[in-house]
Amino acid sequence: MNGLEKFFAECAKAVDAELDALLPPAETAPQNLHAAMRWSVLAGGKRFRPALVLAVGQMFGANRENILKTAAAIEMIHTYSLIHDDLPAMDNDDLRRGRLTCHKKFNEATAILAGDVLQTLAFRTIAEDVNLSDKIRVKLIIEIAKSAAKMVDGQQLDLEAEGKQISVADLETIHQNKTGAMISVSARAGAIIAEASASEFAAITDYAEKLGLLFQITDDLLDATQTTETLGKTAGKDAQAEKATYVSLYGLDEASNLAKKIAAEANHDLNKIDREVNLLRELVEFILNRKN
Ligand code: IPE
Ligand code: IPE
Ligand code: MG
Ligand code: MG
Ligand code: MG
Repeated sequence: MNGLEKFFAECAKAVDAELDALLPPAETAPQNLHAAMRWSVLAGGKRFRPALVLAVGQMFGANRENILKTAAAIEMIHTYSLIHDDLPAMDNDDLRRGRLTCHKKFNEATAILAGDVLQTLAFRTIAEDVNLSDKIRVKLIIEIAKSAAKMVDGQQLDLEAEGKQISVADLETIHQNKTGAMISVSARAGAIIAEASASEFAAITDYAEKLGLLFQITDDLLDATQTTETLGKTAGKDAQAEKATYVSLYGLDEASNLAKKIAAEANHDLNKIDREVNLLRELVEFILNRKN
């Protein structure tokens, strides 16, 4: 295992333990709802967003204990977005994180409700985090609520763009909203908890916005180039659904050139931060070269 793999493994372990403790027990009623939440949240997943909260928070000097609940909360919102994204009314997917999607394993109503309650549990988790001052909790809740709303905006625009030829600017807006916003707020949440300076906060925001866009461009590339087995979700779905993606707009080669360009810009933003930024550079490389 290299250094980055170790970092991810440690993050996943700590965040999974936190999630397990925060999620309602499968034995308590309504059992199916709780089982559905656990099915989707505790299914592996890269845990990239919580890892980013931790990487940025620790870089700016925060303790891991002060970051973990916020990291888990962001993963809950992300998982809710996946559960709803997979519904028949949206992308209609059967496979997620290498197992049946929530609505396939349970049913549509339960999947909708599991997503709903994951979102409210996320905000409650931050509101109740006694490790953080009231001021920081409110700041986090405002920033994360705004970003979760942007994610929903992006999902609406993504669905409306199906089967249409849209402009480069419109596609960038979709990607920045549906995926970029939650990734950007993951980095900014780390900076909020660590009480980073205004200039550090601005620089980390610039970095994270590029990282978020890069994440969805590579997601588009992977959908067109990887197998279902590697992805843990059905490959080739974007072309099938006539989604507007970087691949459909630019083609594979140009889309991967753009990914490299945006990765370089994200790295450039890190030059403005006078801290140990190596881990954040490794995260850029990780996203650029990921296989799932
Ligand atoms: C998938 O996110 C959905 C997108 C926003 C592209 P991830 O690729 O982070 O999925 P998991 O969490 O690892 O399953
Ligand atoms: C979804 O984008 C982004 C979310 C807000 C969940 P995709 O629809 O491309 O994500 P996948 O490919 O199903 O994971
Ligand atoms: Mg989608
Ligand atoms: Mg999808
Ligand atoms: Mg996708």
